[in-house]
Amino acid sequence: MARLVQPYKGLRCNDCHTFFDDKDSLERCPKCGGLLDTVLDEDSLAEYSRQDLDSGARSMWRFSMFLPVRRAHGQVTASEGGTPLRRVKSYSKNIWAKDETRNPTGTFKDRGASVAITRLSQLKVRGLVLASEGNAGCSFALYSKMAGIRCHVYLPRQANAAKVLLAKKLGARLTQVSGTIADAALDAAKAAKESGQYNASTFVTPFRHDGKGTMALEVCEQFGWQSPDYIVYPVGGGVGLVGMWKMFKILEKIGWIRNRPRIVAVQPSGCAPVVEAFNHGREEVDAWKSPKTMANGLKIPKPLAGKWILGSLRESRGIAMKVSDSEIRRAMRRLVKTDGMLLEPSSAAAFAAIPRLYENGSVDRRESMVVIATGSGLKTLDDF
Ligand SMILES: Cc1ncc(COP(=O)(O)O)c(C=O)c1O
Repeated sequence: MARLVQPYKGLRCNDCHTFFDDKDSLERCPKCGGLLDTVLDEDSLAEYSRQDLDSGARSMWRFSMFLPVRRAHGQVTASEGGTPLRRVKSYSKNIWAKDETRNPTGTFKDRGASVAITRLSQLKVRGLVLASEGNAGCSFALYSKMAGIRCHVYLPRQANAAKVLLAKKLGARLTQVSGTIADAALDAAKAAKESGQYNASTFVTPFRHDGKGTMALEVCEQFGWQSPDYIVYPVGGGVGLVGMWKMFKILEKIGWIRNRPRIVAVQPSGCAPVVEAFNHGREEVDAWKSPKTMANGLKIPKPLAGKWILGSLRESRGIAMKVSDSEIRRAMRRLVKTDGMLLEPSSAAAFAAIPRLYENGSVDRRESMVVIATGSGLKTLDDF
């Protein structure tokens, strides 16, 4: 029987550790500018049991007690999450794909947007801006429309045409900016400041990563309340990596799983700032100069949460690996032919790492790997 405890308590700064209650629509730490994390009280979560999961919702909202929202208030949902875990034949028998292509706009970004828009509507936000490579723009356009919130997306000029068109059709206002997402982020921040609108860009808002963290909860449930040996994840801004690692740790602490996975972070060799920093033992991620890759979602020269991503990866005794665009394309074609799985390059990048993970002995073929299939190839047909 679900109890009325509210595990979400407020926000805490990762740098100065100041706690803020959850009454204001905060972005970065008002005291020091650090990144805020949501505080989910583990003692309150421990009062729930796995039988308390809302059996009615076949979406990620089944795990609403793990989300930073007021549970009694309306959720802005289009049935995101609750995605299949498919065994993949392309590589070896111990590989599963978490098939995020089934989400409403075709990517896992819908999870973060559904949570963020739910929380922002509870906080009475009426307009927002964000910088996006395309997919998050589509997701925020959809959920903003559902909630009656104005949405203005700043995209690099070279964003995929289908993503631009979809965000537009879903009612977002669009501004295309010369340069990379870093330039779009500057313009979005300036616009937010001038107009007083909320900035929902990656890690400027603290309300996105727990949504992607629900993938960890679902994977453990689909594995019979165990964790796989590895999670393989294509890293851009690192939202999913940080969010999933947080949830794996919580699940272990509250006794729902007994072991945690190792995380494999994959980036394209034309933009691999996290892989470089991790493999050189650095604490911070340095900006990648002149990023160049077909995996647009991973073309993030300097993720805002660099330190957080590296910390999560180290805690998980993780692995970081680069893959070339030709390996990505090979993975895209192999997955269509063998598994009927149509992925965009940013998503196929994670699968492209598998052959070398086996060849260099990082992973044993007997170990279980869940690869996050982050996004559908339907928006990037020109890349096949
Ligand atoms: C398809 C796809 N995969 C992976 C990523 C990277 O996600 P994250 O920011 O969680 O690292 C993105 C980001 O745009 C994406 O669109």
